[in-house]
Amino acid sequence: MSATERTQEYETYRGLPPIAGLCSMAEAHRQGLGVGQCVGRLKRFHYALKRLHEICIARLTAEPIYELKTALSLHAHLAAEHATALAGRVAEMREPPLGLDEVPHPALALYFDEIRAAPDTGTLVLGLYGIAVPELIGAMDKYRAESHPLCDAPSRRLLRFALLELEDMAAFGRQAVAALVDDAARDQRSKWVELLVAAMEAAGGLDGSSATSDALPVAQFSATPFQFDLVPRRDERFVDSYNAGVNPEAFLYDPRFSARDKTLMMFYKRLREIDVPEMMASIIHQTSGKPWEFYRAMTRQLWDEARHAIMGEVGFTAAGIDWRKVPINFTWSLNLNTQLTPVERHAVLYFIEQGLMPRNGKRFEFEVGEESGDPLSALFQDFDWADEVLHSQIGRRWYVEDFRNSQQAKDYGDACWSRVVSHWRRYLDEGLTEHRNWWPELYREACRRWGVEPDPQALAFNTTYEVQRADLKPISASG
Ligand SMILES: [Fe+2]
Ligand SMILES: [Fe+2]
Ligand SMILES: [Fe+2]
Repeated sequence: MSATERTQEYETYRGLPPIAGLCSMAEAHRQGLGVGQCVGRLKRFHYALKRLHEICIARLTAEPIYELKTALSLHAHLAAEHATALAGRVAEMREPPLGLDEVPHPALALYFDEIRAAPDTGTLVLGLYGIAVPELIGAMDKYRAESHPLCDAPSRRLLRFALLELEDMAAFGRQAVAALVDDAARDQRSKWVELLVAAMEAAGGLDGSSATSDALPVAQFSATPFQFDLVPRRDERFVDSYNAGVNPEAFLYDPRFSARDKTLMMFYKRLREIDVPEMMASIIHQTSGKPWEFYRAMTRQLWDEARHAIMGEVGFTAAGIDWRKVPINFTWSLNLNTQLTPVERHAVLYFIEQGLMPRNGKRFEFEVGEESGDPLSALFQDFDWADEVLHSQIGRRWYVEDFRNSQQAKDYGDACWSRVVSHWRRYLDEGLTEHRNWWPELYREACRRWGVEPDPQALAFNTTYEVQRADLKPISASG
């Protein structure tokens, strides 16, 4: 009797699926990769995911296009999560010491270095989404086809989840490439794409299952060491980004104004939060030597901040308001990135987030949302609040640990923020902005949409950031 016949003859109880439903008996009869081969490939996937994470973070701040900035935030988070899962799996496979920090092959390093150094958005999108993500998907698919469905079920399970989200990234990427990379741009980069293909070949494929070579292609964009660009950039829809002529916190905490009107300021504050990923990316990129869990937690928070920004965008569009007419200020990330060290930036972030915890912080915003009669505003603030509680925990775990106690950590954050020069006057003097009061226009438009008369007091609101920080503390003499 042949193996096939024996397989056909075998019956499970009342025909229930065999192998706990993982695969057929015939599939389980096939040979699969051994533990050593699996570990070798998983380590390369882990490396690739960490590099994808790193590239997304490295490029996010200076990437002008908002939709890319937010996608890079999400994709950095997804890559970090799957890298964490695979590191855990490798540790289960007779592999101490793990060697997870080692570069699997220099050509693989070159491959990702080149993409990180892409000289413009189109090239970055082409390399990251058009080439690297599909390459990783292909290698993971191959792994799933070649590893044993029963023996290696735990790895295959993790890769299945990773593939779900990598496919999402690839789908976003296909549309990004189609929108941002035309034929001329693609032609211009054909030599560079050949370089990437050659690097991958020298590395023996992403999974290392083919023959490797010591002959590396010559670096092009990565020939000079990578420099993190600290200056946040925005696309052309963002107007008057130096404008600090409206202080939304002052409006929000003023009892004279209605909850309904305050939802507009909260949508503004949410959308403005895109400056937090711009700032946090610099901390993540410029801090070395922390445990991986630091980078993972900070990246989760970074993505949450991008989510909050998108909530603001969604809130404005749901209200029928064109946010492109509203100056979305970016001087917080600009000033923090260019005036403070990474630790000092983290200190400011921690200080601000601790300040959100008392009753007049995030809970207050949620209550305003609930009172406003706008269920979307309430929902956004509900989750914004929950996320900020998480961020405060992340801060306690990864920032406060370097201080004697939490008060000292908070004081340091306050002091660092006080040192940041807001340049309110200088931006005005240099003609970068007029600090135009954009509020009445936005408010009138919203009232028109709501079909109500503007409240004269609210319409007259005219408090700027000239003398106050976003926590309503007076700006120090230096500012
Ligand atoms: Fe935030
Ligand atoms: Fe937030
Ligand atoms: Fe936060």
